[in-house]
Amino acid sequence: VARYAVFGHPIAHSQSPRIQAAFAKAQGIEIDYRAIDATPQDFAAALDAFAADGGVGANVTLPHKEAAFALCATTTSRAQRAGAVNTLLRKGERWHGDNTDGIGLVRDLTGRNGLDLRGRRVLLLGAGGAARGVAPALLDAGILELVVANRTPERADALVDAMSEPGRVISAYWDALREQGDFELIINATSAGRGDGAVFSLPLSLVNSLTTAVDLNYGEAAIPFLAWARAAGCRNEFDGLGMLVEQAAESFQQWHGVRPETDAVYAALRERAA
Ligand code: ATR
Repeated sequence: VARYAVFGHPIAHSQSPRIQAAFAKAQGIEIDYRAIDATPQDFAAALDAFAADGGVGANVTLPHKEAAFALCATTTSRAQRAGAVNTLLRKGERWHGDNTDGIGLVRDLTGRNGLDLRGRRVLLLGAGGAARGVAPALLDAGILELVVANRTPERADALVDAMSEPGRVISAYWDALREQGDFELIINATSAGRGDGAVFSLPLSLVNSLTTAVDLNYGEAAIPFLAWARAAGCRNEFDGLGMLVEQAAESFQQWHGVRPETDAVYAALRERAA
């Protein structure tokens, strides 16, 4: 049986083993997919040991996505633009890296939630690994403009520079968001909700009657931002559970050559989360 794994730290609460097992079962494929906890210091060695043990594919989650990118012999262009890898595929004696986070988000937005991203103004809150992962796919999906705001402005500027589309991708000061008008889509890619409960404040002027708000986090970590979005009068708001399932489906496709059906798995996860 081919061996797969997800690497992260912490990893105990990862949904990936459950999701991949469900996809495999539905496709009639036998896999061995485990969660492996590795500290940043141990990650490279843990990955080597996994490969030596017959590991042929892996997902990588926080905080290893940039490290995984650096360890790959080859990477896809979308992984290069994100500077991060969430999907590893063994090719000969080397790792090939891809990043399916961005396409996962876009599929959740356009497929499951029926949004048309073309021509939209999008506000991206945060400029860390999660924001970097999704920005390229949003641009590829045909949005009009991406405004990036981050608590530390230099990181927003760095993300904007990395996208190399001046004019279309711009940074804004968090404290001056009021001057940016309103947005059809607001994405929370910060980790604020995962922290000590610190809630950031955002101006209501960002929202119009058609605004969709999405938090890339799910569970408790998504509660503060989604509560703000609801109070601000967004048309709809949802967490990152759909993106999680879609990025997993893209990874599954890289490994097994078939794209699994995601609705049943999404529904089951949603029910568990309720
Ligand atoms: P991830 O991989 O989840 O993106 P990260 O790379 O550590 O994690 O990035 C965390 C992001 O959340 C950053 O954009 C961070 O802002 P800074 O660059 O200023 O640190 C943002 N963030 C974390 N806590 C926050 C808070 N309380 N308010 C606003 N932004 C916050």
